Amino acid sequence: MTNPREQWASSTGFILATIGSAVGIGNIWRFSYVAGENGGGAFLIIYLACVLIVGMPIVIAEMAMGRRGGGDAIAAFSANGRTPRWAHAGWVSVIGCFLILGFYSVIAGWALKYFIGALTGDLWRVASDGYGGFFGDFIANGAEPVAWQFAAIAATMLVVMGGVRRGIEAANRILMPLLALVVIVLAVYASTLSGSAAGWKFLFVPDWAAFGEPQVYIAAVGQTFFSLGIGMAVFITYASYMTPDIKIPRAATAIVAGDTLFAVIAGLAIFPAVFAFGGDPEAGPQLAFITLPQIFLKMPGGTIIGALFFGLLIAAAVTSMVSLLEVPVAAVIHRSRQRRFGAVILVGLGAFVAGTPSALSYGLLDGIRIGEIAILDFVDRLASNYLLPLGGILVCLYIGWFWRRVEAVESAGLATSPVAELWIWAVRLVAPALVLLVVLDSSGAI
Ligand code: TRP
Repeated sequence: MTNPREQWASSTGFILATIGSAVGIGNIWRFSYVAGENGGGAFLIIYLACVLIVGMPIVIAEMAMGRRGGGDAIAAFSANGRTPRWAHAGWVSVIGCFLILGFYSVIAGWALKYFIGALTGDLWRVASDGYGGFFGDFIANGAEPVAWQFAAIAATMLVVMGGVRRGIEAANRILMPLLALVVIVLAVYASTLSGSAAGWKFLFVPDWAAFGEPQVYIAAVGQTFFSLGIGMAVFITYASYMTPDIKIPRAATAIVAGDTLFAVIAGLAIFPAVFAFGGDPEAGPQLAFITLPQIFLKMPGGTIIGALFFGLLIAAAVTSMVSLLEVPVAAVIHRSRQRRFGAVILVGLGAFVAGTPSALSYGLLDGIRIGEIAILDFVDRLASNYLLPLGGILVCLYIGWFWRRVEAVESAGLATSPVAELWIWAVRLVAPALVLLVVLDSSGAI
């Protein structure tokens, strides 16, 4: 290795940074609309099962790889010295992160525009035709979405330039507790609105018919990958900066529980408000950007609540983009003579350029449809439904079948654990088989 490895200052720092990666737009914007479209309570139950059976074993597997790999995603796939060809699997993650960062930064840019608008009051002076037109005009504008996308990426680049400890860890240490506080305040506030009980019911009382619908299972697997941020070597890369004292099973439990709890609490902030003010819980991706601002306008104190909400969204987005940027940055630092600063500039600007077609996909490039869907949605689906599951399956097969059992179990910190056998078979068979099934089943959807 040419570069001395950076390290987290503490195990709390490591856990906060990984939770920061996991908790993002996926927990707030994506979870609420996907749960809304797929039956609320029924989706939640299937999602929890997926998180336990598929998510948790893969988080542990990625961390075990990172701990042994001692380098970037690519090195980690050949660290046992017997499998040089598997290095290609690492490239899938590096390129995947780059692609995801491109479109993710566009949505983060929307959140940033709404946040600033909520602070200056511009967001609350919208004409009477409502937020449908406001949002539509905004994303149809040529340059504006690109400018906000750039601002979101630039903020992320600044954090990652600071390095593992003084950039990533420090930012997460400040932002994550703040995020937890804001989302809890919002959920408590939402529960005081009259009519809010219907939102709780929607989220917790399952509609049994939904269990018979295959698309609910597909949505749950996709959401598990996206929300935890697995399959793209984030945990491999972050775990490579780990000090030896960190206990992987414990860290993985904290991260998975934290991410899931955050999504549920965000749901408790959103659905009660939606029901109390007669919004449509099945509004889809526009829920956060069209339905919610309308509700904030009607709510007592809504302009403050709205500013808090969009502040939450952008802060959560940035800590996730930080991980998406760090994976390719770590690879560039590891594989070239670039230092961190140069690598961040290179990858960050590259991802910005790669993401501009997504930013323009409802404006200048609105005419372009890939199999009927717009560019941004295409990249989202390509990444969430194919790249992430593929990355997850590769991690499982690599650890499960190309590492010796004892290597795997020891690196995972499960050597003396009663669940070691359970984990090994989840990684060898159960998780990859389930994911493969779902991906094949949904391949008609793109
Ligand atoms: N998990 C984040 C969210 O919920 C997004 C994210 C961060 C991600 N890093 C990732 C998604 C890696 C896939 C792969 O918004």
